[in-house]
Amino acid sequence: MKNLIGRWLAPPQQAEPEVLAQAVSGKVVLVTGASFGIGEALARRLGAAGARVLLAARSLEELQSLAALIRQRGGEAHCFQLDLREAEQIDRVASSILEQFGGVDILVHNAGKSIRRSLLKALDRPHDFERCAHVNYLGPVRLQLALLPKMIERRGGQIVNVSSVGVRMPAVAHWAAYLASKSAFDHWLGAAVPELRPYGIACTSVYLGLVHTRMSAPTKEYASMPGLSADQAACVLCRALIRRPRSLQPWWLGPVHLLSPMLERPLEWLQWLWFSR
Ligand SMILES: NC(=O)c1ccc[n+]([C@@H]2O[C@H](COP(=O)([O-])OP(=O)(O)OC[C@H]3O[C@@H](n4cnc5c(N)ncnc54)[C@H](OP(=O)(O)O)[C@@H]3O)[C@@H](O)[C@H]2O)c1
Repeated sequence: MKNLIGRWLAPPQQAEPEVLAQAVSGKVVLVTGASFGIGEALARRLGAAGARVLLAARSLEELQSLAALIRQRGGEAHCFQLDLREAEQIDRVASSILEQFGGVDILVHNAGKSIRRSLLKALDRPHDFERCAHVNYLGPVRLQLALLPKMIERRGGQIVNVSSVGVRMPAVAHWAAYLASKSAFDHWLGAAVPELRPYGIACTSVYLGLVHTRMSAPTKEYASMPGLSADQAACVLCRALIRRPRSLQPWWLGPVHLLSPMLERPLEWLQWLWFSR
């Protein structure tokens, strides 16, 4: 039953390796957050499709074993240890990418930090909000700014934002740090689109629902809920690279987004009832 509902809410996407290869073969693709979950699964697929994959995250060991696996299978992969909370590291990684590869063709902003916590339990935790802001918004913006001039000069490329369905839905209690920072980057990219399109740079926002990864695991209720596997989510991202649409989202998110202004107050009220029990 759970699988059936999952397939209905987010029908599995196919990304034929040959079609993906046509889109990415020989291209320099930087994937942030490639050490685990969706980023790791995506990097494997990109490596197999002949992309020159640049893997970035904090966990160097995981990146190195992934790079070794991609090379073993005949692909090309390079590792960059990167903490998106550290401005200096971002600048250093961007400089060495520019120096070694002359820039990137595709940048997949996949790294992410999620926190689910009641506001009342976060009163002495301003760092929750700061960390999410750095990993999900400020770090990606800094990295993108450093790599953008080359994309503009070459008049091409793609920027992919791995976002969440929550960004397009009314606010939900406990998710403020995560969704505010994801929304900020989504908005930033939306504002960049009109200026970047004349240079042939495509911007794609991918709004994912639940994906069963290390990120969603701490929320116990999610374990029994329908969702994608990391590899299924990577397939969705592959389709974003193949088709280069402005956005990709589950079929039901469009109507929910349209109805959001009407749903906001009733949802606030329902949540208020729930929390005052
Ligand atoms: N899982 C879901 O249900 C879901 C739903 C919607 C959207 N998403 C989005 O999908 C993306 C991937 O998430 P996931 O589910 O694959 O989570 P994950 O398995 O926890 O992977 C997150 C990745 O981000 C990296 N990362 C975290 N903090 C970082 C930092 N300070 N600097 C650089 N990299 C950092 C992690 O690597 P290190 O720890 O090695 O740095 C890891 O590779 C995220 O943007 C997330 O918001 C996920």
